[in-house]
Amino acid sequence: MMPVFRNLAKTAKEVLLINGCSCQIPAMSIRLMSWSPRQVNADASFHSVSFAESDHPRVLITGGLGQLGVGLANLLRKRFGKNNIILSDIRKPPDHVFHSGPFIYSDILDYKNLREIVVNNRITWLIHYSALLSAVGEANVPLARNVNITGLHNILDIAAEHNLRLFVPSTIGAFGSTSPRNPTPDICIQRPRTIYGVSKVHAELMGEYYHHKYGMDFRCLRYPGIISADTLPGGGTTDYAVQIFHDAVKTGKFECNLKPDTKLPMMYIDDCLRATLEILEAPAEQLTMRTYNISAMSFTPEELVAAVRKHLSDLQITYKVDEMRQAIADSWPMEFDDHNARKDWAWKHEYDLPELVFTMLNFITTDSQLMQSN
Ligand SMILES: NC(=O)c1ccc[n+]([C@@H]2O[C@H](COP(=O)([O-])OP(=O)(O)OC[C@H]3O[C@@H](n4cnc5c(N)ncnc54)[C@H](O)[C@@H]3O)[C@@H](O)[C@H]2O)c1
Repeated sequence: MMPVFRNLAKTAKEVLLINGCSCQIPAMSIRLMSWSPRQVNADASFHSVSFAESDHPRVLITGGLGQLGVGLANLLRKRFGKNNIILSDIRKPPDHVFHSGPFIYSDILDYKNLREIVVNNRITWLIHYSALLSAVGEANVPLARNVNITGLHNILDIAAEHNLRLFVPSTIGAFGSTSPRNPTPDICIQRPRTIYGVSKVHAELMGEYYHHKYGMDFRCLRYPGIISADTLPGGGTTDYAVQIFHDAVKTGKFECNLKPDTKLPMMYIDDCLRATLEILEAPAEQLTMRTYNISAMSFTPEELVAAVRKHLSDLQITYKVDEMRQAIADSWPMEFDDHNARKDWAWKHEYDLPELVFTMLNFITTDSQLMQSN
């Protein structure tokens, strides 16, 4: 049973009442006193901003050493100052990450460790990136269930306890074969058949539930497949769309694990990270929803190959379909309808397919030339 919903000492209510419902409730809240740390009463109310408006947020990013975390930390550090953004993970950071700003060990399955980090660093925003992605999750369901669902419960409790603004990314994988796929709207049937998708629907619903019941400032974007040049993907179904660029530059050959006509929504990493910052900064009154689709482009492997061949005409492609990944891709959206994000907080992507291909090839070519000259 979720430990969150049990009794709470009267004092906690008084603390909340004394502070009224303003946004300035001090970090002292529900679990600071003598009762069990994971108990929140049913009529508790949480508040979106626990720092003075003029202050910068203090941000913790979990799972920060994956494909997206380091780039997000760089973006947020430019905006809010280097020391206000703490990256965390259970892996050892490479030198350049370790020296670029605060890094801390954090296992999201260790609740006490999470709480210590949030308290000691006066965290106000929590960006929850730790997860096992679709293909990796299917290969290890118990671990995916643990990290993606039990871990999320820890994150929700921590965010509730300390009045944090909480961002959790969801995914095109939160839809399934019974969802409308072309296009997929924000609100429709969601019956995914991967542990990854199930855990992400769970995250969306739990976050929205905490928002409606307690006023938690939960914000969520459903990311498409994200394409980046300097970080590798972590075992998702859209990984081919990153790997092709590396192989095209390095060997001139690419073996694709999805069928040539498999259409999926994709996005360049800069758009994804900017969208994340924008939703985090959006005034609450503009958000008519708490979970938004965001979209930039959709393409198939053969369309991507054609776009790459405009720059590297000799690129050779073979197809060796991975049945597990193909089955997942065949159940996912082909086009993502993100009109609510565009309407509510002015979301606008900058990279279409030609810009994406140009940018990726440019980055990877320069990088490998630099490595060769060293
Ligand atoms: N990359 C994409 O294309 C994409 C698309 C849609 C949604 N997302 C979501 O965005 C988030 C970040 O994605 P990513 O591509 O960077 O993921 P990733 O797989 O590259 O990285 C995930 C990180 O989580 C860490 N992690 C695993 N178990 C942990 C634990 N117990 N405690 C703390 N950290 C742990 C891993 O060490 C890893 O560094 C994920 O939630 C993912 O579901 C990503």
